[in-house]
Amino acid sequence: MLTGRIALVTGSSRGIGRTIALRLASEGADVIVNYLRKRTAAGEVAAEIEAKGRRVRPVKADIGDPEDVKRLFEEARDFGGLDILIANAATGVMRPLLDISEKHWYWTFRTNVWGFLSLVQQAVPLMVERGGGHIIVLTSVGSGRVLEHYGLVGASKAALEALVRYLAVELAPKGIVVSAVSPSFVRTDAVRFLPNSDQLLEQAQRQTPAGRLVTADDVASVVSFLCSGQAQMITGQIIVIDGGYTLPIGRLDGSSFTSSRGSL
Ligand SMILES: NC(=O)c1ccc[n+]([C@@H]2O[C@H](COP(=O)([O-])OP(=O)(O)OC[C@H]3O[C@@H](n4cnc5c(N)ncnc54)[C@H](OP(=O)(O)O)[C@@H]3O)[C@@H](O)[C@H]2O)c1
Repeated sequence: MLTGRIALVTGSSRGIGRTIALRLASEGADVIVNYLRKRTAAGEVAAEIEAKGRRVRPVKADIGDPEDVKRLFEEARDFGGLDILIANAATGVMRPLLDISEKHWYWTFRTNVWGFLSLVQQAVPLMVERGGGHIIVLTSVGSGRVLEHYGLVGASKAALEALVRYLAVELAPKGIVVSAVSPSFVRTDAVRFLPNSDQLLEQAQRQTPAGRLVTADDVASVVSFLCSGQAQMITGQIIVIDGGYTLPIGRLDGSSFTSSRGSL
């Protein structure tokens, strides 16, 4: 149980972040719900958390903007401190790498990579005051696997994964554990609005030995375990949540793998 703990979930107005925020609240945590634009959606998440009997504070802040991040942590201090940081919000330009401009590069890396590091830098003093903490960042299987038009975002996720390993070592003496969770495709707005979304998800499901796509609930379950205190010796790791999607499966007849289970 997370009773008495305070969690900040970035980008928790929608998608995976929303599900994680609600799960942590169900387990007893008070939650800071961060969002960028969708105030109404953030308000709905906040109302659901309150209905669970937990304290909640929605805070609009752009994770890529250092002033906003500073303000977000002033809110966290005012809310009581911080035990758990879930760095979930991300952005990115999806194009072939030869079409990526300097502007696209800095936009993506500013939010996804510098944004993560600045969140950690602000979170650590608050966590130290409370005797330690948990930091979890959302990465993706596209950091190590080539997905169409995902080169820039994939590179930013690979950078995050390197930061996780270094931070785990730097922060271990402070009682702070750091991990990344790496889901394969999850049906959220981020995927739904891709031009070939249905085809992509159908193909991902076919290539998943478990026979179904990963859900936001699957991700929230792993996050909740990592924050639970039962996982204190897991640090610096990238936990893949993919139903076997990224396994290098070999067939004796040379054919590629297609799941015979489930359908979209
Ligand atoms: N969906 C997948 O298949 C998948 C797979 C692997 C990894 N992931 C990772 O999981 C995380 C969540 O993805 P998702 O699919 O749930 O995304 P999503 O449905 O598009 O939701 C994005 C959330 O992030 C917020 N956000 C976006 N930019 C922000 C910024 N600069 N500052 C603060 N908040 C910001 C949005 O706020 P507003 O509502 O206010 O716009 C929203 O709450 C990301 O790190 C993503 O890379 C996703």
